[in-house]
Amino acid sequence: MAKIVISEFMDERAVALLSARHEVLFDAGLQKDSTRLLASAAGCDALIVRNLTQVRGELLTALGRTGRCKVIGRLGVGLDNIDVAGCEANGMAVISATGANAQSVAEYVVTSALLLLRGAYGCTAAVAAGEWPRAAVSNGREIAGQTLGLIGFGSIGQLTARLATGLGMKVQAFDAMLAADAPVYAQSGVQPAALDDLVAQANVVSLHVPLTEGTRGLFNASRIASMKAGAILINTSRGHILDIAAVASALRLGQLGGAAIDVFDTEPMSADTALQNCPNLLLTPHISGLSVQSNKRVSFMIAERVLEKLAAQEQQG
Ligand SMILES: NC(=O)c1ccc[n+]([C@@H]2O[C@H](COP(=O)([O-])OP(=O)(O)OC[C@H]3O[C@@H](n4cnc5c(N)ncnc54)[C@H](O)[C@@H]3O)[C@@H](O)[C@H]2O)c1
Repeated sequence: MAKIVISEFMDERAVALLSARHEVLFDAGLQKDSTRLLASAAGCDALIVRNLTQVRGELLTALGRTGRCKVIGRLGVGLDNIDVAGCEANGMAVISATGANAQSVAEYVVTSALLLLRGAYGCTAAVAAGEWPRAAVSNGREIAGQTLGLIGFGSIGQLTARLATGLGMKVQAFDAMLAADAPVYAQSGVQPAALDDLVAQANVVSLHVPLTEGTRGLFNASRIASMKAGAILINTSRGHILDIAAVASALRLGQLGGAAIDVFDTEPMSADTALQNCPNLLLTPHISGLSVQSNKRVSFMIAERVLEKLAAQEQQG
């Protein structure tokens, strides 16, 4: 029987699947207590994390000390909280749930685009109070016919393109790892584009790249300034890719028509006066990939893959 440590929240039914075969320590708050986390991780055969547990430094050393730990399961996508090379050098495979939360993120993106383009949903209090701000919210834009520019055309980018196309949007994508003649473009009806052209032409720009040295600071103040006047910017990828202060300033100047931001350099972010009462800004606490359905899909995908890995390990041993 292997020992599995789960340091963040996971669907209870997926935890039960693991517990039926192995000894499981499941504590959704474990990542906040580094002493207990280090003690629990030492000697485990598998560690399952979400995005808050930093699998590097002391924790990686504790995991690698006995040579027992063979797999790190990541309940989500994006491996920037894991030293993947360090894990692999210590004999630990890193598995993520690529694709399992893509629908939730894609729905968040099109919902944000619809809300921000239309701009008609912020007047509930005024209407309930007997005001009638009809003129102020009559100039919203339809989404059909607008151009969506996707930065990154992997699982989430492709699903977002499918939803957006269904709403009548034209879709362009820039992906540094995909050739312009990659079949996925023709299959999806999405136009491949150079980054600068896409940014200059899109009415809605949405970021779907991992945080790497190549994407850090990609959407800085000058890139934001090169966006079409009145365009919408959506970031569900990672903090550090987008300069939030530059977004706030572009929104206040009216150069950007709206923004939705789900991910931040530091989470939770510290109070930021630049973002207080910023117009046409939607902020969410890193939940675009989280829904009832995606949590179940992600949790079962990782539980099953960890079980497979442990079974293969048992056979070898
Ligand atoms: N906010 C959330 O809840 C949430 C949920 C899931 C994923 N994410 C983030 O979204 C990112 C994308 O997820 P995914 O499932 O689509 O991943 P994916 O690996 O399927 O796709 C990422 C794409 O980005 C491309 N890419 C990599 N570097 C690039 C660069 N420098 N320039 C342009 N393109 C580049 C890759 O070629 C790939 O096609 C994840 O890495 C993660 O950080 C956030």
